[in-house]
Amino acid sequence: MTACSLSFVPMTEDELDWVVEQEASLHRFPWSRGNFTDSLAAGHACWLMLDAGASVGYAVVLDVLDEAHLLNISVVRAAQRRGLGSRLLEHLISTAWEKGLRQFFLEVRPSNLSAIALYRRAGFVEIARRRGYYPSPEGREDAIVMRLEP
Ligand SMILES: CC(C)(COP(=O)(O)OP(=O)(O)OC[C@H]1O[C@@H](n2cnc3c(N)ncnc32)[C@H](O)[C@@H]1OP(=O)(O)O)[C@@H](O)C(=O)NCCC(=O)NCCS
Repeated sequence: MTACSLSFVPMTEDELDWVVEQEASLHRFPWSRGNFTDSLAAGHACWLMLDAGASVGYAVVLDVLDEAHLLNISVVRAAQRRGLGSRLLEHLISTAWEKGLRQFFLEVRPSNLSAIALYRRAGFVEIARRRGYYPSPEGREDAIVMRLEP
């Protein structure tokens, strides 16, 4: 565990080559460069997580009224299962509360067992399903909607 050397910095256009490369290797249906550019332009909270100065993860959160919506959270494969995803999620949640947001939501594929385990461990609970929300190799896949319990 290298948690002492972690830092969180706002993502900029300068990091997008790295982010897009990681995104393509970490997700079966990756965001495009345009998705990240649009998120930055829209003012979404876009974060990089650094471990001893090296980028090891990133995340994007959309704020709507008093709600935070997690749109993307990713940890590079070589650094997974060392608690970094949890640390990044904790950072996103504490930042949202500091901004005065009052609720935190996310959507996740039922097939993404590692992400579901991460979210449950952080205190998220399932509140709804969106039928056929995501594209999948089999056609469509539901989304589980989760909310952070107070
Ligand atoms: C989901 C993801 C961010 C988790 O990051 P991580 O750094 O590995 O997570 P952590 O090490 O903090 O794990 C926290 C907990 O989540 C669960 N978890 C994480 N990865 C898991 C896996 N592969 N299998 C089962 N449980 C897992 C465990 O409960 C784990 O706690 P434990 O290690 O003490 O058992 C990472 O796997 C990832 O980037 N996946 C690809 C991108 C993605 O699917 N993002 C989510 C949708 S946008």
